[in-house]
This record gives sequence, structure tokens and C-alpha cells, in this order.
Amino acid sequence: MDTAVATAAPYLLLDNITVRFPGVLALDSVSLGVRTGEVHGLMGENGAGKSTLLKVLSGVNSTSGGSLLLAGVEQQFTTTKAAIEAGIAIIYQELHLVPELTVAENLLLGAMPSRFGVLDEKALVKRAISELDRLGEKIDPNMQVKHLSIGQRQMIEIGKALMRNARVIAFDEPTSSLSSRETEQLFKIIRALKEEGRAIIYVTHRMDEVYALCDRVTVFRDGRRIETFEEVDGLERDRLISCMVGRSIHDVYGYRTRDIGDVQLDVQGLMGPGLSEPASFSVRKGEIVGFFGLVGAGRSELMKLIYGAVKPVSGQIVLKGSRRKFRSPRDAVRAGVALCPEDRKQEGIVAIASVSDNLNMSCRRHFSPFNVLNSRKEAATTTDYITKLAIKTRSGNTPIGTLSGGNQQKVILSRWLAEDIDVFLMDEPTRGIDVGARSEIYGLLYGLAEAGRTVIVVSSDLAEVIGVADRVMVMREGKIVGNLPKAQVTPDQLIKLALPS
Ligand SMILES: Nc1ncnc2c1ncn2[C@@H]1O[C@H](COP(=O)(O)OP(=O)(O)OP(=O)(O)O)[C@@H](O)[C@H]1O
Ligand SMILES: [Mg+2]
Repeated sequence: MDTAVATAAPYLLLDNITVRFPGVLALDSVSLGVRTGEVHGLMGENGAGKSTLLKVLSGVNSTSGGSLLLAGVEQQFTTTKAAIEAGIAIIYQELHLVPELTVAENLLLGAMPSRFGVLDEKALVKRAISELDRLGEKIDPNMQVKHLSIGQRQMIEIGKALMRNARVIAFDEPTSSLSSRETEQLFKIIRALKEEGRAIIYVTHRMDEVYALCDRVTVFRDGRRIETFEEVDGLERDRLISCMVGRSIHDVYGYRTRDIGDVQLDVQGLMGPGLSEPASFSVRKGEIVGFFGLVGAGRSELMKLIYGAVKPVSGQIVLKGSRRKFRSPRDAVRAGVALCPEDRKQEGIVAIASVSDNLNMSCRRHFSPFNVLNSRKEAATTTDYITKLAIKTRSGNTPIGTLSGGNQQKVILSRWLAEDIDVFLMDEPTRGIDVGARSEIYGLLYGLAEAGRTVIVVSSDLAEVIGVADRVMVMREGKIVGNLPKAQVTPDQLIKLALPS
């Protein structure tokens, strides 16, 4: 690939692009230019149209107006193949690899552009692997994909793009399941791709990433391009936030103090898979406790042990003074303990079912199928949460599968928040959720705590645990290594505790 310096003329130009779905104007005459040699950030609320735009680029979504130009030449992408041939690659958040196949087999999956003529598959794989190697990522082509981390899997998708010599590479929230080390590695590679003169689009909800990586940033709201900031350096966070949500939020966390009561949940020497030593801690009524750590520190595993989703080898749980044994999540929920898992999508979306059904598929009712469903109450709960979390949907009857990623998350989260539960174990509750809705979710968590509930927030987002928790516990390599009240928490200290010694 010839190296190019960033030039003012955009390589990729979207001109007045409009995309309609039944009853939804997902993109409303959006124009956007992306230059070679730049990382162009794309931000905006859940449902703003970011993923839709990427799907226009990849030929998945058809447009009902506007044009798409590459180096000044108009393109018609009626198939994904056409887009690949034109040199466009999209790295979706949900990766499309087959776990049972090897890296090499996965690299060759999907239609290769016909312009390659007869394929020399070996040469193609070799090229992808050596390109990745050159960028600092060593991957064994004969390894089965199921043995790779999410970060490495993403690298294979990038390898695919490189193999096809893509000039435009778009990433859709690529770091949401990556560890901080993997994120660093990804950033290194994206910077290298940029230096090589590729045009990069980077969709994210994380402002830190925009500041770390992007040259320019465009904000979408309700299917429209609101603004493109030409210089990320020096752009004020408050300005970016208010541009995204259409109002100013001075303090996303809006922490509120409250009275904290007696011990509600006491975990005593709980030991099981994913932990390196027995875990003991207690949480009080009305308390919000953050669990900070790197991805893989054992936090999710500990939550699953408490919840009865994984069988402990030893230890016990005392809930409101009485000793409990949860043989299954059903037991836990009945006793008033619920886990909203990290992998919400895999855990519980019925894509063709409606928003309302998904929201009301509460674990309690789910577990007791003979309960009479109260449809009026369900409808009220649905309307309530659609408003509270600003869930962008036509109505409660819309199939959840047609909602944007973040809005699906909000529905699943509501399912748990609406539950009558004493102890909420929330694993990465705000992943993929925009800054405005996050602020509303924090408000709901304070509300739960004020009503005497106990909330545990597992999060890899340092600012989040510091912002919302009354107390922060830190885990590292399968054990609890820190327990700090809010007044003593500093970012430096949390990171120091969380990093492997
Ligand atoms: N296949 C579809 N059918 C109907 N509506 C759709 C479909 N795909 C997207 N939409 C709608 O288009 C709008 C934009 O969705 P999109 O996925 O582009 O949002 P997004 O900006 O990527 O949001 P998020 O941050 O939550 O990922 C939403 O209102 C969504 O419900
Ligand atoms: Mg999206």
C-alpha cells in the first residue's frame, strides 16, 4: 500500500445518505467525509445511527437516498461482496468467526473478492499472518479459534481486512470486551494502520478512547450528523457530551450519599473455579459496592459463585442473617439475589420477541411459569423503563432485534432493575450504553440503594467505580486484594492494586 499523508480531501465521502426502516428514519441526509491517514471518531446516543452508517458502508443496509464516493468515484454497494471489493472492511463488535475452525480457515471464510481470480489460499493466509506479525501481533494460523481470546479474535478480523488490502477500516465499539492490555495492543495497531494511510472510522461510547486515538470526531443524534469537531485535542468533554445528548450533564455520576444499614449479604470463604483463594466480604443494606479489576481478575466468577450459577467448592453465604445455599440461580433469585450478567446478549435476548416481552421476562416469573401474567402491569413496567432509560423503540411491541445494540442492553438491564430483589449483582451494567442513559442508570442504582437494597457493580471502568460506589473492592488474579471506602479511593491506588505484581 502506498503511504499517504492526511490530506484535506476525504477519501471516503458519504453524501446526504438516508436510511429508512419501517417507521424509523435511521439516517437522515447524513454527510460525512473520512480522510486517508486519519482516525475519525463516531459518537452519539444509543440508536443515533452509527452502526447503520457502517452497514451502509459494508453493503448490508441499502439506502433510500444519497451517494457514497471513494476517491471521488461513486459506488453502488448492493452486496457485501461489492463493498469488500471496493476496499472496505468493518470490524463488528460481535465477531463472525467459527470457533471450531482454525485461524487460517477463518481467514478464508466468506466470499473472497472475485478480482483475486483463482485463489492461492495459502498465500493469502500467509499474507494476513505476516501483516499481523508486522503490526506486532503473533498468531498461529493452525490454532483453533475457540482457544483464542476476544482480543486475538478481533485481530483475525483485522487480518482479514489486511489480507484484502482494505483502504477503509471501520470499527464498531471494538474495545467493549477487551482487557486494558488488549485495548492498548488494538490502539497500537490502529495507529499503525493510520500511518499507512488507511482511512479509519472508530465508533465508541468511551470518551477517553476518542481523546487517545482519534484525530477528528463526528457526533450523531437521532439519525442526523450534529457536528464534526476538526480537532480532538483541546475539545472540552462537556461540549462533546452536550453535543451527544442535547443537554449538559456536568456530573455523569451524580453521586448521592445515603444512610447505610446492617449487613445484608455476607460471603464467607467462598471458593470455586476462577478464584485463587477463598473470598470473604460483606455488603450492607443501602450500600453500593464497586468491584474493580482487570478483565479476568475473577470478579465475574465470584459473582457466579454467589448466584449459584457455578458450584462453589467451599464457603457459605449468609443473607440477612440466615445461612443460605444456592444450588442454582433459581434458588438465589427466590431468596432475593440476582445477577445481571456481563454477557447480557448471550444470556437472554429473544430477538424476535417484543421489547415488552423481553423486559418482563423477569427471572421470578420465568422460574414460576404458573404465575398469572398481569398484562396491564407489564405494559406499565415497559412504558416506565422506556421512559426512564430513554429506550429508543417505536413501541413496547417492537421486536427487540431491530433495536440498536445499546438499546437492547437497556431492555435487558431494565428486566433486572424492575425485579423485586434485595441484592443486585450487576456485571458491567453500562457497557455499550451512551453517556446520557448511563447517568440515568446511576440514578436508578442510587434509588435502589435508598430503598434499602444492596448493589454490587462489577466494572472495569475506573471512573465508574470511583464515581458510583460507596466502597471499592479490588480483585487481582482470582483474589480480593483491596477494600477501600470512597474517601480513600484514588485512581492510582486502584490501578496499582489491580495490576499483577
Ligand atoms: N433492521 C432494523 N430494522 C428496524 N429498525 C432498525 C434496524 N436496524 C436499526 N434500526 C433502527 O435504526 C436506528 C439506528 O440504529 P443503530 O443501530 O444505527 O444505532 P447506534 O447509533 O449504532 O446505537 P448503539 O450505540 O446503541 O449501538 C435505531 O432506532 C434502530 O432501532
Ligand atoms: Mg451500534
